[in-house]
Amino acid sequence: MSRRKQIYEGKAKILYEGPEPGTLIQYFKDDATAFNAQKKATLDGKGVLNNRISEYMMLRLGEIGIPTHFIKRVNMREQLIKKVEIIPLEVICRNVAAGTMSKRLGIEEGEKLPRSIVEFCLKRDDLGDPLLAEEHIHAFGWATQDELDEIIGMTLRINDFMLGLFAGIGIRLIDFKIEFGRLATPDGHQVVLADEISPDSCRLWDSETDKKLDKDRFRRDLGDVTEAYNEVAMRLGIIKPNPGTPPNLSVVTGDK
Ligand code: C5P
Repeated sequence: MSRRKQIYEGKAKILYEGPEPGTLIQYFKDDATAFNAQKKATLDGKGVLNNRISEYMMLRLGEIGIPTHFIKRVNMREQLIKKVEIIPLEVICRNVAAGTMSKRLGIEEGEKLPRSIVEFCLKRDDLGDPLLAEEHIHAFGWATQDELDEIIGMTLRINDFMLGLFAGIGIRLIDFKIEFGRLATPDGHQVVLADEISPDSCRLWDSETDKKLDKDRFRRDLGDVTEAYNEVAMRLGIIKPNPGTPPNLSVVTGDK
């Protein structure tokens, strides 16, 4: 049992009250869910890997000027973050057709899109996160025009950066989902990148073999889910290659 006050429990993470006002602790669970939680499993070590990978992505994006909620990683499963008001949108950016876009529009999975496409879904598990038109977002007041402009601009910059980062380690960034929050400032609020960026929320394919290195391994029963996440962490240089087989999570879990 935790001593801290739990603020929220999601499918893959728990938020606790942070040590200072305006902060939270984000805890990464090993739980995996798909198809709106109809499929569930516990994958040993997934939370540890996602904590490390998300820390890495947030730090790199911070370095190129993307404001984020990330403050620091505090241990192998937890990070200290700034408390934000989550904007109730799942922002999806796609470079290659896959998943729901392939299904919805009948485009073969793997087909390169004519350009990167940003989509919005409403964060509502009970409705299955429905796809939105920008009109819905404005009309129902989920975000203002200015906020949406900022969100789209940041999403495209994040995409450009991540495309290059992953290309450099032999991985194609097919698509990803991110979330944004409103961070209170003395004169209003600032829109910042929140939540996480990990193989749970991205499609990552090996550049040479098209091997899936992301949550589709779980969704589609392809096996070796944490091994694939481990591979991503290893290629990013977050964890050291281990000569043992299968990839040894103790390399990660042994870290503080
Ligand atoms: O399922 P779909 O093709 O719409 O997913 C697009 C991208 O968004 C994928 O990388 C997927 O992992 C991510 N996603 C997510 N959380 C959701 C829905 C999609 O991380 N609830």
